[in-house]
Amino acid sequence: MDLKFNDEIKYCEVCGKPLNKKVVINLYVKTIEMMVLIPCQCEIDKEEKKKVKEENQRKQERLLHVQKNSLMDKKLKEQTFKNWNHEIGSQKLFDFAKKYVENFNQATKEGLGFYLYGPTGCGKTFSVSCIANELKEKFVPFICISSIKLLGRIKDTFNSKSSDSQSSVINNLDNAKLLIIDDLGAEVVSDWSKSIIYEIVDTRIRKQLPLIITSNLEPEELKEIYGMRIYERIIYQACVPIENSLGSLRRFEGEEKIKILSEIINK
Ligand SMILES: Nc1ncnc2c1ncn2[C@@H]1O[C@H](COP(=O)(O)OP(=O)(O)OP(=O)(O)O)[C@@H](O)[C@H]1O
Ligand SMILES: [Mg+2]
Ligand SMILES: [Zn+2]
Repeated sequence: MDLKFNDEIKYCEVCGKPLNKKVVINLYVKTIEMMVLIPCQCEIDKEEKKKVKEENQRKQERLLHVQKNSLMDKKLKEQTFKNWNHEIGSQKLFDFAKKYVENFNQATKEGLGFYLYGPTGCGKTFSVSCIANELKEKFVPFICISSIKLLGRIKDTFNSKSSDSQSSVINNLDNAKLLIIDDLGAEVVSDWSKSIIYEIVDTRIRKQLPLIITSNLEPEELKEIYGMRIYERIIYQACVPIENSLGSLRRFEGEEKIKILSEIINK
């Protein structure tokens, strides 16, 4: 903005403070008169928010690369809270998912996500897509991807001439404030896939970044298939286990974690 000395003094519509002022500087040879900006706190906050939003958009652009052909395809873009069918979907799950998004900042601070499990077709993918779509509106960088697609993306980097190395895809996941891995256990489980899942989960925990996982596997089955190291990190550290019916926030050893999540969603 080009300010002139004789411009009017403008005032902030929020706090009422002046946003510009006249300054007269007496130099030996001449006097300089100018109008300078004096942004109030509201303006500074607004600017800061804008910067955060732009930074998040940049991160999301980088994530699109991982995300391509992933869950956020056309059909899943329509899976929003607005389109939630209350006749078939669980009301408890709806309330829970909404609260999680509303209090996402706190969940981020605690690095806390959840492990949503239940039988096929009970609305796990639908509900995490609602969360992803809602966070997208708030410009939160996220990835929502099935375990099959995610592992496929990582595997591709072995074969293709692409410049991504396996670890650069995994590192890129750090740009996601929220990582959603849908349908863990649907992929072909091998030593390689387990080592990748381990690395991803462990990194989320070390960086205190929230992780949401959905699966058909009961926690006990998760333990059997993936082993103790992965099981403990998911169930005790990164994610609160939640049965799809939400009949119970199951009592596992991570009681403290369950307490924190309960506080977050009961706000
Ligand atoms: N709350 C809801 N409102 C409207 N449609 C829903 C809702 N929940 C689920 N559906 C629909 O029901 C079907 C099954 O839901 P979804 O794919 O989310 O199940 P899932 O638990 O992820 O199953 P799977 O374990 O096989 O992946 C989908 O077609 C989805 O669009
Ligand atoms: Mg699903
Ligand atoms: Zn102001």
